[in-house]
Amino acid sequence: MSRKSLAVLFACLLFVAPLSARESAKPSAQPPGAAIASAHALATDAGFETLRAGGNAFDAAVAVSAVLSVVEPISSGLGGGGFFLLHDAKTGKDVFVDAREMAPAAATQERYLTADGGFDRDRAVNGPWAAGIPGLPAAFVHVAETYGKLPLRTSLAPAIRIARDGFPVYARFARGYQQRREVMERYPGTRAVYLASGAAPKEGEVFRQPDLARTLELLAGHGFDGFYRGEVAAKLVAGVNAEGGQWTGEELAAYTVKEREPVRFRYRDWDIVTAPPPSSGGIALAQMLQILSGWDLQELDEPLRVHLVAESMRRAFRDRTFYLGDPDFVKVPQRLLTSPDYAAGLRATINPSRATPSDLLSGEQTPLEDEETTHFSIIDAEGNRAAVTQTVNLLFGSGLVPPGTGVLLNNEMDDFALKPGTPNAFGVMGYDANAPAPGKRMLSSMTPTFMQSPGKVVVLGTPGGSRIITMVLLGILGFDAGLDAQAVSALPRYHQQWMPDVIEAESGAFTPQVAQSLRALGHSLKLPGDEAAGGRGSSHVWGNLQTVEWDLADNALHGGSDPRNPVGKAAVEAIGATAR
Ligand code: GLY
Repeated sequence: MSRKSLAVLFACLLFVAPLSARESAKPSAQPPGAAIASAHALATDAGFETLRAGGNAFDAAVAVSAVLSVVEPISSGLGGGGFFLLHDAKTGKDVFVDAREMAPAAATQERYLTADGGFDRDRAVNGPWAAGIPGLPAAFVHVAETYGKLPLRTSLAPAIRIARDGFPVYARFARGYQQRREVMERYPGTRAVYLASGAAPKEGEVFRQPDLARTLELLAGHGFDGFYRGEVAAKLVAGVNAEGGQWTGEELAAYTVKEREPVRFRYRDWDIVTAPPPSSGGIALAQMLQILSGWDLQELDEPLRVHLVAESMRRAFRDRTFYLGDPDFVKVPQRLLTSPDYAAGLRATINPSRATPSDLLSGEQTPLEDEETTHFSIIDAEGNRAAVTQTVNLLFGSGLVPPGTGVLLNNEMDDFALKPGTPNAFGVMGYDANAPAPGKRMLSSMTPTFMQSPGKVVVLGTPGGSRIITMVLLGILGFDAGLDAQAVSALPRYHQQWMPDVIEAESGAFTPQVAQSLRALGHSLKLPGDEAAGGRGSSHVWGNLQTVEWDLADNALHGGSDPRNPVGKAAVEAIGATAR
């Protein structure tokens, strides 16, 4: 190359480098339309309907969230809570809207003890004492009023219509009902909804929820007061108390969403923006990725790569035990836990040729959350983004519908450490940072996340209890390795959560050779069909990752909907693109 062309190249690099850095902070182009990925096609379609009505990504988020609440009561709903991570393209601002449930004042630790002082697991997960004060309806109002362009009446219209007219029951719904049937049928309000046709919901039948449609209409018409005061609130309190619970109208009226500063950090070329406490996800992600930034993972052979990723998981989950809880109640050492220096210290404790036995890392175990939750991702034509994960906790939450509301209440109280030192459903224990207190929010694993490099903007998240965090980690590593959105949502998954000291993996995640190498490094593996290996479950696949990406180089949008869930849908439409 001639001296002159070298000079030109150097000048170009000087010019290009700072431009890329600026673009990475705030993309200057706008997407060629909108992309939405959610766990149910009706919800994705409702998002596009709302965009066509003139809404932005935040109005669409309300619409998608509300429709998921109607069609996926198995996973989330008006009786539960969620986290909305939002990016406003005009200001470049990211905000985390915390609509997590709050503990009712009466729900002290003593309430979850049996007469002989044992832990009352039934009370923790079923019926009135299992439920926290719901947050999702307040999120709809807050997001629509603060960030949306449309009245709540418009963004809630698809959910109202689907609740009233019904939707076809799908296999996971019918199966889930059978699993929770004994609990659901304890309560007259729940029987009135789920046995309205005289029998349990069956796949293919149309399932209607007229009471829920009316509750949504009151919310659409009266905003916060439509749910948290007046007729609906009175029925919620009456329904909970009739079953032996203790809610008051005052604590419903006192519910408030919180806007929090997201966790931010850098991994290689990516700026990551993710969930702060009361989620444990963002801090754990920052730890794991900053530990892993010490290696070029693509250069490593697969057993070594999996070994290092699993060791980073082990360390982040150990720290999750002690320090994390509701930041309004406990001091979370977030700056330390998310610092690159702290990660470098943890990295130094990893032996590349040997697994670290979990009991060599100090500490004891903490409760982990269960699987039933849902996530959706949106980018609109202005470049606004929404990553939303929402939940009622376990399958169909507490199983309790207060009569006349159509609202299935969560069982999120089980995400607290309800009896420190006593094993929960997974044989693990908890500590004070996450003990219940009136008005406190229980620790979560929900991890809605944005990532942005000079070439790409990505929105992602998934349900899956404690595995949410490691699925989002593997998703980020997948995008970093150059996979597209659909390939990332399909990636085989594995998970290490410190205790139990085992790597769980989905069917096909490891070849026999990789599994053998991992065992030779000292890891215990729990593979599908391998019951002897221990661990806390035997599912062959898990998660329901929904992601959208905006490729800045060719200004194209793509979506990825987890192939494990046949009713999910990712789609791209040119809505809003022609207006410019
Ligand atoms: N209940 C599931 C979670 O919040 O992580």
